[in-house]
Amino acid sequence: MGDLARFNLIGTSHAFLAAMAAVEKFAASDLAVLVYGETGTGKELVTRAIHYLSARRDGPFISVNCGALPETLVECELFGHARGAFTDAREARPGLVAQANGGTLFLDEIEAMNARAQVSLLRFLEDKEYRPIGASAVQCADVRIIGTSNADLKAMVRSGQFRSDLLFRLNVLALHLPPLRERDGDVGVLAETFLERLNRRSADPPKIFHPDTIDFMHGYGWPGNVRELENLVAREFILASGSMVKITNVDWPRAAARGAQGDALTFGNFKAAKARAVADFERSYIEALLAKSRGNLSLASRMSGKDRSELGKLLRKHGIARQDFN
Ligand SMILES: Nc1ncnc2c1ncn2[C@@H]1O[C@H](COP(=O)(O)OP(=O)(O)OP(=O)(O)O)[C@@H](O)[C@H]1O
Ligand SMILES: [Mg+2]
Repeated sequence: MGDLARFNLIGTSHAFLAAMAAVEKFAASDLAVLVYGETGTGKELVTRAIHYLSARRDGPFISVNCGALPETLVECELFGHARGAFTDAREARPGLVAQANGGTLFLDEIEAMNARAQVSLLRFLEDKEYRPIGASAVQCADVRIIGTSNADLKAMVRSGQFRSDLLFRLNVLALHLPPLRERDGDVGVLAETFLERLNRRSADPPKIFHPDTIDFMHGYGWPGNVRELENLVAREFILASGSMVKITNVDWPRAAARGAQGDALTFGNFKAAKARAVADFERSYIEALLAKSRGNLSLASRMSGKDRSELGKLLRKHGIARQDFN
């Protein structure tokens, strides 16, 4: 465990420690890894830990968010292209796989890869070979792939959105990071650690949690997991007027936005207030839609007139799991 603290991975629950034991074992292997977990459970942190604990630690660590790239660009980003591959490709450009040679390539939100990119990735995993777009010759690279996903990839295989052979290949070393609400005692340990860190960086006298905070934290479900907890502690630390950090609810921006007496934080910036209102609307709309369609994305897509992939992006954005609505 000493090693893992170096990577800021904190927790003492059985569920967390079991996941960390797997991290150490996976780091000693060179196979591809798939890290599953809800938003904010530490997938990226864990991925870095695996790389820096592995024999590839002195090699590059290259990351790409597949969900943030337009579908058509994923393959090009990963494998590069030859000169003249498209009208404006005046020079050949190496992809991320070439950049990651000797190290690890972190494919965040791997479920967002389109069918073509999935085929190329599978081939690369099998033979270490790939062909840049428009190139005639194949190239080789020695790269370990670590992917993350918060989607149900098995369900995506059943609905034809994800290749089963690719999933088999990636799933050999699968790691499930438990949601925070299933990590007994970790909320308190993490909250104290975050508070300590803030105290250390602050010139003010140290602050402590108000006793009601601890009760609230244990009862709350933490849909945004560790990230939500970290952000909440940071915000309330800044807002606390005395030596007590009191957290007894999480939705003050929403409550304040709806309340009559707004403050500078709510109304000071139109853009921020609008973004918050839109995000609130998206979340409640999507939740109602999923409840009505029982988590069936195709049905939800028909009911809302929105593309499946657009809906998928919204789910990811808000950390909503459609399995919760089955
Ligand atoms: N066990 C942990 N101990 C301390 N900090 C953690 C832990 N897990 C996550 N964090 C912190 O929580 C935040 C979210 O972690 P991370 O980005 O790794 O989550 P993620 O699973 O990749 O989320 P997303 O799916 O939204 O991308 C980061 O600031 C990270 O440092
Ligand atoms: Mg992440």
